[in-house]
Amino acid sequence: MERVLVTGGAGYIGSNACKALAQAGYEPVTFDNLTTGWADAVKFGPLVQGDLADRAALDTAFADYQPVAVMHFAALSQVGESMKDPGLYWRANVLGALNLIEASVAAGCLDFVFSSTCATYGDQDGVVLDENSPQMPINAYGSSKRAIEEMLIQFGASTGLRHVIFRYFNVAGADPDGEIGEQHEPETHLIPLMLDAIEGKRPELTIFGTDYDTPDGTCIRDYVHVTDLVDAHVLGLNWLKEGKPNRVFNLGTGQGFSVREVITQSGTITNKQVPYSEGDRRPGDAVRLVSGSTRAETELGWRPARSNMKDMVADAWRWHQAPPYAK
Ligand code: UFG
Repeated sequence: MERVLVTGGAGYIGSNACKALAQAGYEPVTFDNLTTGWADAVKFGPLVQGDLADRAALDTAFADYQPVAVMHFAALSQVGESMKDPGLYWRANVLGALNLIEASVAAGCLDFVFSSTCATYGDQDGVVLDENSPQMPINAYGSSKRAIEEMLIQFGASTGLRHVIFRYFNVAGADPDGEIGEQHEPETHLIPLMLDAIEGKRPELTIFGTDYDTPDGTCIRDYVHVTDLVDAHVLGLNWLKEGKPNRVFNLGTGQGFSVREVITQSGTITNKQVPYSEGDRRPGDAVRLVSGSTRAETELGWRPARSNMKDMVADAWRWHQAPPYAK
């Protein structure tokens, strides 16, 4: 069975990718330092507990498991935190990726699927965000991901490393089978925070900014179901295996929802009241991030089946009520 090294495989998106890889006939080998990930989420292949800062640990993982490809998810990913402590993001994300890329090249493992973000586009309201849009990040998180994209391009030119880069819009939902889902500490994302507020685990949700230039004054995002998102990664891996060229793909639906719309729809879907208040803007937030591309559909054959608000909130809600991962 061919193996894929999945960095961050104990995290929300990485663990879902491991499941998709296992279903596609690969053995996912998780490489994760478990600082934000969960050993309980590693269910579909072995776990190597290690840090991207530790080059020797990476070399050992490549030597022990001989993966045919890398899927790189491990990263710090909170926009707000990245504004408060940019150095943390440059060190963990950029230096971590540099170590991984060098280890991958040294091991001759040259197919690389990278988890990037629409945060690399920055705040370009009114512009159609497709893969050719300029990348002008407005937070350190987005900057760190853009730097890694550049690293992949440069290493590709000199070493033969090949890449597929996915720029995610807002990932939501949980595994429909209920095996794995989103658990962050601290939680910062809209939908899980809202579900906490519904359940009374926190007093209320605060809307970050109600004076944006949008129809209802709140930020607009393009939400994509985690199961659809990871399906695209398997298609991206196969794309590389077929010898197709380096490529960037947006992963979003092209449909934007405001924070208020997410709250209203979630109340209807869960049949519960969402307690919320209105607060200040959060530094680093773009007003509107919606994908303007169908490249993943047309070129990869991606068919996002669950990326509608009903399935995303219902799957997240089911997961939310299940027992959490052990700490
Ligand atoms: N929001 C609130 N209140 C909260 C939390 C979020 O109003 O308590 C708002 C945010 O201001 C934003 C929207 O809900 O307008 C979504 O916020 P999230 O924190 O859920 O997601 P982000 O858009 O900030 O970030 C996510 C990922 C990033 C990725 C980014 C791309 O965490 O990794 O999407 O938009 F880069």
